[in-house]
Amino acid sequence: MKFPIITAEEAAEHFQNGDTVGLSGFTMAGAPKVISMSIAAKARREHEAGREFKINIFSGASTSDFVDGELSRAHAINMRTPYQANNKDSRNAINAHEMHYFDKHLSELAQEVRYGFFGGIDKVIIEAQSVSDDGEIVLSTGTGNIPTFARLTKEIYIELNDQLSPKMLGLHDIYVPLDPPSRLPIPILKPSDRIGSPILKVDPKKIVGIVKTSMPVGKKPFTPIDDKTLQIGNNVCEFLLGEVRAGRIPKTFLPIQSGVGNVANAVLAGLDASAEIPPFQMFTEVIQDSVIKLIESGKCTFASTSSMTISNDAMEEFNSNLDFFHDKLALRPSEISNNPEIIRRLGVIAMNTALEADIFGNVNSTHVVGTKMMNGIGGSGDFARNAYVSIFSCPSTAKDGLISAIVPMATHVDHSEHSVDVIITEQGFADLRGKDPIQRAHEVIERCAHPDYRPLLREYLNMGKIGQTPHTLRAAFAFHVTLNEQGDMRKTDFSKFMN
Ligand code: COA
Repeated sequence: MKFPIITAEEAAEHFQNGDTVGLSGFTMAGAPKVISMSIAAKARREHEAGREFKINIFSGASTSDFVDGELSRAHAINMRTPYQANNKDSRNAINAHEMHYFDKHLSELAQEVRYGFFGGIDKVIIEAQSVSDDGEIVLSTGTGNIPTFARLTKEIYIELNDQLSPKMLGLHDIYVPLDPPSRLPIPILKPSDRIGSPILKVDPKKIVGIVKTSMPVGKKPFTPIDDKTLQIGNNVCEFLLGEVRAGRIPKTFLPIQSGVGNVANAVLAGLDASAEIPPFQMFTEVIQDSVIKLIESGKCTFASTSSMTISNDAMEEFNSNLDFFHDKLALRPSEISNNPEIIRRLGVIAMNTALEADIFGNVNSTHVVGTKMMNGIGGSGDFARNAYVSIFSCPSTAKDGLISAIVPMATHVDHSEHSVDVIITEQGFADLRGKDPIQRAHEVIERCAHPDYRPLLREYLNMGKIGQTPHTLRAAFAFHVTLNEQGDMRKTDFSKFMN
């Protein structure tokens, strides 16, 4: 190999204060691991020496503690996009205004970087399985936005990870659309259509060095599914089966998008167990262990995704059986895995998660009590807005019942009433299609809210006298104000808000 083999520390020395850095991967899958830690160490040294050191990070989605955690703790991130998740240090830095975070639909970032909306990309870090002398790269288990970042950058640093199987070649489907006004239809007519290249070709002159690593590429296993989550999963399945029986979803079924986490696991387990649901395909941004099992069992015949966010055990199983998976999986850039044109054409059933939903059908997926960033919108908007049917689920309460996830008015709206078809909790499902705001409110209160909160929500709805969506503005956030002041939404007393 003609490229210099360097250490992560040597790579980090090239990174300068103010650099904009593009990362490979989507979630922790395919994200760099060792160079980012060395950049964090460099940032600490620079800060100790009294010098400023912060970089801007563009990724595919969330990363891992090796990136967001390490760099946040080192106070080394100036600007971050498009998504971060499950990292308290990064979340705290955002909510303390130390890190500038702009939360972006994942399908949009690559094209907007190409449009020049955010300035240039100085450097990229790519986790790779292999790289040839002429710059042909076999990527890792996550693709994200790296084809665009690699095209635009001046310098490329490779993390060559020997935990990735050489049989990865052929799993990726790298395609970058032309930009307007020259864009053509993206020719994916079914999830399994391959339209691009299995390798990422970069200009070999840009490759500054290769860092060799053996870091595990999988994640810790998910916690076991609890009863509430299982019930949400069952309710999603019941809704979907009803749609099939009513002929609103074809008997051959439609491609599924489902997020990460236990609700998604419970839904997939329910679909697997149902004899009425035929083998199906997935068109999604991330797959987890349960999908690997569904592919093995034949229930999922193909999965189009941007990443494989799977446990180390599942990764071992996957690697040992990789020949089997080659024609059943495609790893695509997120602007394709989450592409609105394709989602609408294929009729994807979208299943995403809410932090809170209001009685009229607006969903908050990102901001705790309207102010504190939780994770970000991720790909949920890409799918929800363009889906055949858009489902949002969540437990009816959080924090042992102190918080109702069903509220009078959402404190932040990521997905408006116009993009939310069905809300599902462990209590049941509310089908909002074809209903006006008051009809939707009755449906949500009676079918999704926790019984402890139903009387309060009914009281709120009955208070409203003005307009098609009868909010009472003085009391619209009474649940949240009560939570902030008394620590329990159940103590809400609307009369106190009306004086
Ligand atoms: N108010 C305050 N806190 C709330 C809350 C609310 N209304 N609802 C949930 N929470 C808390 C929970 O108590 C939990 O806290 P903990 O971490 O201290 O235990 C935390 O938020 C996460 O809730 P949980 O019920 O475990 O859900 P989750 O892990 O599935 O996360 C989202 C839910 C909405 C934050 C997550 O799905 C997300 O980030 N979605 C946006 C991105 C996306 O949808 N991408 C597309 C699919 S990959």
